Amino acid sequence: MVRFGVNVFLFLAAVVASFTTRAAKLPSSFKRCHKSDPHFDDCLVVNIEGAIRSLKNGAPELGLDSFEPLLISSLIIGEGSGPVNVQQNFKNVKLHGLTGSIVSKHKARLDENILYAESVTPMLRLEADYDMKGRVLLLPIYGEGPCNVTLVNTKINHTLYGEPFERKGRTFLKFVNYTVTLRPDKVQFHFANLFNGDDRLGDEINRVMNDNWDVVFTDVREGYEKSFGLIFKDLANRVFTRVPLKDIFLE
Ligand SMILES: *[C@@H]1O[C@H](CO)[C@@H](O)[C@H](O)[C@H]1NC(C)=O
Ligand SMILES: *[C@@H]1O[C@H](CO)[C@@H](O)[C@H](O)[C@H]1NC(C)=O
Ligand SMILES: *[C@@H]1O[C@H](CO)[C@@H](O)[C@H](O)[C@H]1NC(C)=O
Repeated sequence: MVRFGVNVFLFLAAVVASFTTRAAKLPSSFKRCHKSDPHFDDCLVVNIEGAIRSLKNGAPELGLDSFEPLLISSLIIGEGSGPVNVQQNFKNVKLHGLTGSIVSKHKARLDENILYAESVTPMLRLEADYDMKGRVLLLPIYGEGPCNVTLVNTKINHTLYGEPFERKGRTFLKFVNYTVTLRPDKVQFHFANLFNGDDRLGDEINRVMNDNWDVVFTDVREGYEKSFGLIFKDLANRVFTRVPLKDIFLE
């Protein structure tokens, strides 16, 4: 029985709900591209990467706090269908490293409101308070405490499906679906205080998970992909639902 419970509540979720009546402007640190540019997609590769990097300092114009780290109040990665028979509950998540992402490819099909991008994030580290109880690789695992999950050199494919809408005579885009595929070169887990603080057993299971990171991560990868898709969709919508489309992609 496969069950991917995914629940993501962003720390700043209230911002998106409180639509201001006045349209917002892109921060001046975001460079824009002309749709008529024959190298429009290449232009976006450079400018999206620059925009993500500039979010290290947040973007008060858009009500965005710093992305370094990105704060997520709660995130649940459901059980896999293979060796991971445990639901991982994360709270007070700090996601480090997103602003170091390198965009390698971009393809816009603006007439269909679809954007596609490929990126690589050299070091993505999730620090959080976890709790879990179940089995990994047939071994019992339980505990709660601080943890680190580090994804090294993660290739990410992004597909964004938007729907245009009008507000006060201006056209905006809202992303209704943001699919993500994640392929890290390596994943490292560190769960502190496993088994009520039995360090010997805790170190042992951390070692077993890291020695077998590929099967462990692959089993729950879809949970991570769904979570990241929801997080990225929310972030993209904070920009696109507030800045008119013609001010993002120039004629
Ligand atoms: C997470 O990693 C950082 C950096 O390596 C380290 O300082 C911290 O102690 C780690 N935390 C846990 C809970 O492993
Ligand atoms: C991204 O898509 C390309 C082209 O389809 C594929 O070769 C690559 O494996 C995908 N990468 C990820 C991270 O899914
Ligand atoms: C999002 O798009 C993917 C790929 O087309 C599709 O499999 C999935 O069902 C869609 N999800 C939603 C919520 O529309």
